[in-house]
Amino acid sequence: MANKRKLMEGFHRATRDERLARLKEFCSLTDADVKVLSGETPLPAEIAEHLIENVVGYFPIPLGVATNFQIDGQDLLIPMAVEETSIIAAASATAKWVRTEGSIRTYSKGRLIIGQVQLPSVRNVAAARKILHEQRDLLIGLANACVPGLVNRGGGVRDIAVREIPRAEGDGTMLVLHVLCDPCDAMGANLINQVCEALKPRVEELTHERVGLCILSNLTDGKLAGAEVIVRNIDPVLGKGIVEATLFAKADPYRAATHNKGVMNGIDPILIATGNDWRATEAGIHAYVCRTGKYQPVTDWVMDGSDLVGRIEVPLAVGTVGGVTRVHPTALVALKMMGIEKAEDLARICAAVGLVQNLGALRALSTVGIVKGHMQLHAANLAIAAGAEIHEIPRVRERLNEVLRTEKQINLTRAKEILEAIRVAERSRAF
Ligand code: MEV
Repeated sequence: MANKRKLMEGFHRATRDERLARLKEFCSLTDADVKVLSGETPLPAEIAEHLIENVVGYFPIPLGVATNFQIDGQDLLIPMAVEETSIIAAASATAKWVRTEGSIRTYSKGRLIIGQVQLPSVRNVAAARKILHEQRDLLIGLANACVPGLVNRGGGVRDIAVREIPRAEGDGTMLVLHVLCDPCDAMGANLINQVCEALKPRVEELTHERVGLCILSNLTDGKLAGAEVIVRNIDPVLGKGIVEATLFAKADPYRAATHNKGVMNGIDPILIATGNDWRATEAGIHAYVCRTGKYQPVTDWVMDGSDLVGRIEVPLAVGTVGGVTRVHPTALVALKMMGIEKAEDLARICAAVGLVQNLGALRALSTVGIVKGHMQLHAANLAIAAGAEIHEIPRVRERLNEVLRTEKQINLTRAKEILEAIRVAERSRAF
């Protein structure tokens, strides 16, 4: 444990080679794993060709590591693939604060994903409901016969429920069959879609009604992951500020959207790094936080005596087998970095990092604001966008940070002016 802490210390100040060496030791990686992470062994073109269509190349996103996380008592380095400056710095700094002053605990709830078989316009609702109810066991048996591999692994379809949904005013009723399936460690989209399509003819035969769409639902509210963060004896003003920020998000969807974006800053990069479908997760989480009819923040922060307590509970249907996860070499190493075998472990880590990321944003927003920290780190991007050569970046960045300290803002125009001034000075020195 102590050695692991040491490996995390000053990680951001280490060179890239040193970081990779520490990562190798911390996560017991092989030389081949390290080459995959560093990009020295790129994703083979033949694999890329099979992942998507009309491949012409790659769109590289930096892969970073968030440090200082101790989740359920375990020290972890978190792989995050993301293009936005300061997310990883904020996650690491906030995780350090929580590790020193409190704790992170996680859990998962439920294992079932949902497939929908829609009967769009049912003529005899009562009769269709009755027959589907009576034939529930037959349909479950048929469904499981489509996924023998999953059943062998201990998963499979567990239940079938019928929902009744009014169409537009006066336009009748649709029925929707919910096929509830335990996908084990897969995300399960392909499995459940196949099951739903396979059920279609039998459902039509049984009900004498037409089946419309057969597709999974991304609102996987039967498979949730949650986390709780406690910061003990927090400065009461800071604690109050964070609670107030949460109240703002509860009251105003305009704020809730940004609050939740900050949470997803922690979750999406892990999903990308592990080859998971982050669009599905985004859609599911945003739908879930609307379940009361009003768009709400994903997290809640309250004071409990002198402690700040934060909670998150969200649908996180992620996979550690199937899909891209076991095909993409970087995704495999990213899972190995966190010692993850089971999908629910990945989901719990995502929930925890999302909550910590949110805490970092709210801490900054309710005190100094995010501009200073973000723009300090963003200065290098501005230097590059202004046209700085690699060797010019540190000087432009340094000058931009001086300007930020005095003028409180920097932008691309300023970066271009600074670059030009540096080049003029260089030229005059050369004469
Ligand atoms: C920026 O990527 C995320 C924040 O806007 C989140 C928030 O406002 O809570 C800082």
